[in-house]
Amino acid sequence: MIDGYDTAMQGAVIEAYYGSSDFYNFGFWSADTGNQSQASEALVARLLEFIPPDRRDGRILDVACGLGASSRHLLRHFAPRQIVGINVSERQLERARHNAPGCEFRVMDATALEFPDASFDNILCVEAAFHFDTRAAFLREALRVLKPGGRLVHSDILMAPLPQTTSVRTHIPNANAMSDPAELERAILAAGFARAEVVDATEQCWTPFLRSVRRFKAAHKPPGPSTPRARRSAPIFFNPEYLARFIRRYVLACSHKSAD
Ligand SMILES: C[S@@+](CC[C@H](N)C(=O)[O-])C[C@H]1O[C@@H](n2cnc3c(N)ncnc32)[C@H](O)[C@@H]1O
Repeated sequence: MIDGYDTAMQGAVIEAYYGSSDFYNFGFWSADTGNQSQASEALVARLLEFIPPDRRDGRILDVACGLGASSRHLLRHFAPRQIVGINVSERQLERARHNAPGCEFRVMDATALEFPDASFDNILCVEAAFHFDTRAAFLREALRVLKPGGRLVHSDILMAPLPQTTSVRTHIPNANAMSDPAELERAILAAGFARAEVVDATEQCWTPFLRSVRRFKAAHKPPGPSTPRARRSAPIFFNPEYLARFIRRYVLACSHKSAD
């Protein structure tokens, strides 16, 4: 999967679609959103709204920080020394260090965080938890490394189980399959969080993203016929009809660790 992401995220088509912003997510769209990079910035801004301004202090961990675009956004609110980003890919982190200078970036699996208990005041995780093996293991780790009263804010894709034959299957463990935002809320509470807010943002995130990618694809048709082989080898974001068969909801969540 790392190779798949590394290649897709830094390919020319993705760079054109994301306007060289180095984001790789569906974004959060409203009537005045002009393009994908604005939507992606808005998604991080929307997740940060879960953290009141007077609690945007201390250390924040950016889990699965991708190419560092979300960490760069965090620099609007935090000093570089307060921000730590992790990802499974060193190649992505090389770009992240360039995008968010002065922040700390470390290769790490989200389900095995190499930090002591109570290390962070807040955790951000943009559109990646559905990949983790498993989401439940990540939620437990997030709870452990948060300080009492800390918050995990994350966006997530709720998907039906993928067929064993699908190449995407290896990237998305079926243990993470769920269809209903209430199931995610139960999983967050089962991990030990005191409280969870889960907002269904399918109509602000996945639906407009799908529309936007279709428009982009229509305007940038590759030369030659669209063969099944070419469709299979396209980055999954550019074969959204396939993903659409499994995506059930897109959610934004804020998980609160008890203050005691
Ligand atoms: C859809 S991208 C989102 C990237 C970034 N958060 C953004 O919004 O632009 C998913 C990211 O999850 C990372 N990832 C997948 N599994 C991971 C894991 N177990 N631990 C840490 N990062 C992981 C991938 O390398 C990729 O950067």
